[in-house]
Amino acid sequence: MWRLRNLLFTLCIALGCVTSAGGVILVTGYVGGKVNVSCTYGHGYESYEKYLCKDVCGDNDVLITTSQQKNPKYSACDDKKARTFTVTVSDLTSEDAGKYWCGVTRTGQDIYTEVKLKLAPDSCCNTVTIIQSYEGYSGDIICSYEPRYQNYLKYICRGKRSSTCLQQALITSDNKQNGRIKFNDDKRSGKFTMTITSLAQSDSGTYLCGVQKNSVLDVFSAVELNVKEWCCVKSKTASGTAGYPLTFQCPYPSQHYDNSKFLCKGDHRNNCTNVTSQSRFTVQDDGFSHFFLVIIAELETADAGTYWCGSDSQWRVENYTKVELSVGKVNNHLHDSKINRAESSIFVWTPLNMGLWFMV
Ligand SMILES: *[C@@H]1O[C@H](CO)[C@@H](O)[C@H](O)[C@H]1NC(C)=O
Ligand SMILES: *[C@@H]1O[C@H](CO)[C@@H](O)[C@H](O)[C@H]1NC(C)=O
Ligand SMILES: *[C@@H]1O[C@H](CO)[C@@H](O)[C@H](O)[C@H]1NC(C)=O
Ligand SMILES: *[C@@H]1O[C@H](CO)[C@@H](O)[C@H](O)[C@H]1NC(C)=O
Repeated sequence: MWRLRNLLFTLCIALGCVTSAGGVILVTGYVGGKVNVSCTYGHGYESYEKYLCKDVCGDNDVLITTSQQKNPKYSACDDKKARTFTVTVSDLTSEDAGKYWCGVTRTGQDIYTEVKLKLAPDSCCNTVTIIQSYEGYSGDIICSYEPRYQNYLKYICRGKRSSTCLQQALITSDNKQNGRIKFNDDKRSGKFTMTITSLAQSDSGTYLCGVQKNSVLDVFSAVELNVKEWCCVKSKTASGTAGYPLTFQCPYPSQHYDNSKFLCKGDHRNNCTNVTSQSRFTVQDDGFSHFFLVIIAELETADAGTYWCGSDSQWRVENYTKVELSVGKVNNHLHDSKINRAESSIFVWTPLNMGLWFMV
């Protein structure tokens, strides 16, 4: 047995450097994981000793042979039927990347197959796209890919680990629906999308978009989904008396001075009724005060309930206010005295302040 170090030059002339028809065998894996290095050998060598060595393949570079296991990191298996010698390398570290040789020990020159091991960190990615959405809404995780991957298998998993992503995929281009999750691939624009409906806060986190490349490592991009609770909606109360007018304030963000303002009634803001167009309701906005006034001409008992002050047709969280309106019964005594009823328990009109409303 003459090892490679002594033979590299003659070997290259005699064997064309490698005996495998496919040339150098490329093996890819992830740091922390394991890989199988598999080399085939020719007829008649079934009973010969095989080995795996690294770099220049000197005597100290032999990692394992079919007759001797030196280190639990390497385990060998010689499938004589398939004439395939496989070494499993585990606990991969970045130092394990590089050049290896599968050898067959024989009299004279050993037979060599060159193997190149490429490793990638098992955590994706340096750049992360951040997507914000809100509880109860639906959210899209959009992944771009290069045109050459059009017909490859695509998948999305949770977490950052590339090595287990396909195994733990939530959805793939072969399995387009999974409960609240739907997959869509728009090949024209080179984007695939995972839509999650009825988002919950537990949906927040990192997702990996993967494109399967079979022989080499899959391609990944990372998306972080941030689901905010909409607990934080600003809330206030107003109360008035049936039969009398009522005015209350609706705050809005200063960027919205130009937007149309509206009032919507219903327990849930996603299916409330826009009451702005009803003649009893007037919306007054000067564009400077960061709030608009809602004037209800003559309160009715049925007006009691939940309202939403809006200035953003997209209802972005923090950009609308909830108002709980209560309507008291007509008090005959007050009614008779014909006092000005334009009051609410929180806001009192102060004529001195020309258009400003104060909290009591
Ligand atoms: C590696 O090889 C072993 C033994 O041949 C086999 O059981 C295992 O499934 C292989 N693992 C991979 C990831 O191909
Ligand atoms: C309004 O939406 C809420 C929450 O999505 C739902 O529970 C409720 O049944 C809806 N009401 C109507 C009248 O559709
Ligand atoms: C509510 O109704 C008013 C008046 O019809 C309209 O101008 C406004 O755009 C509506 N707002 C929404 C969010 O539908
Ligand atoms: C509220 O609206 C403004 C302007 O449209 C927007 O910039 C801001 O992001 C919105 N707030 C939230 C929490 O979405």
